[in-house]
Amino acid sequence: MSWPKANRDGVAWRSPRKILAALSRLLERDSPVEGCKVVVTAGPTRAPVDPVRFIGNRSSGRMGYALAAAAWRRGADVVVLAGPGHAPRPPGPRYVDVETASEMLAALRSELEGAAVLLMAAAVADFEPERVSTDKIKKTAGDGLELKLRRGPDLLIETAEMRRKAGVLSLGFALETESPLENAAGKLEAKALDFIAVNLADEPDSGFEAATNRVTLLDRWGNVEELPLLLKEVLADRILDRLEDRLVE
Ligand code: CTP
Repeated sequence: MSWPKANRDGVAWRSPRKILAALSRLLERDSPVEGCKVVVTAGPTRAPVDPVRFIGNRSSGRMGYALAAAAWRRGADVVVLAGPGHAPRPPGPRYVDVETASEMLAALRSELEGAAVLLMAAAVADFEPERVSTDKIKKTAGDGLELKLRRGPDLLIETAEMRRKAGVLSLGFALETESPLENAAGKLEAKALDFIAVNLADEPDSGFEAATNRVTLLDRWGNVEELPLLLKEVLADRILDRLEDRLVE
């Protein structure tokens, strides 16, 4: 029998990365998330225009994957609802591939069953074309192309009631260009979140496509913690530390 050299994410089965991840999970002890189901959303979603085109965004998925890896190392049962980002997937968690916001919402509704924690790191598209063409739109159709967009589902709002009832500890992100703390506090409330990590869209080395991120973490108990510029993997651990404090209460 031949042994496959790599899994579908290009990670060798017996790669040092996989061995290291498994060892870290064995070595981490007594985390309150151990044995808990943690749902993570990561990467962008796409809104199709026609069979070959879509409206997307620059999210790579790295922040969500870093959170998923950190929770998995702490012994959680982690499922990642993954949009089509290009960041490498850490070994350990279970992955559910989705493309559109509606697909991510359907997967989220089903995976929230039995979940204790939701980490909502995906950059969900806010708008989608009102009409998706079944045929490729030809450039000969006119001098330009007008697309009418409508609001897509807000996943946090759609699942707010369900999460509130089940007491799912929930964290979201906010990317702001102005009044970041004020806007983030509004989203914390409106989206039934316990935590929100806010960053400024124009901050250098932060946000989409960067290896690092600088966020201020707000929670619904009124705490505001300004974190320094950190590697996304380091930030993920800092965020999980804060969540753990609330899980033990
Ligand atoms: N989010 C969501 N569904 C959407 C858009 C965003 O669940 N359709 C989630 C994101 O995953 C994030 C949080 O909501 O955790 C805040 O996302 P953000 O883009 O900052 O907020 P929006 O609600 O899209 O508001 P706006 O773009 O108007 O600032």
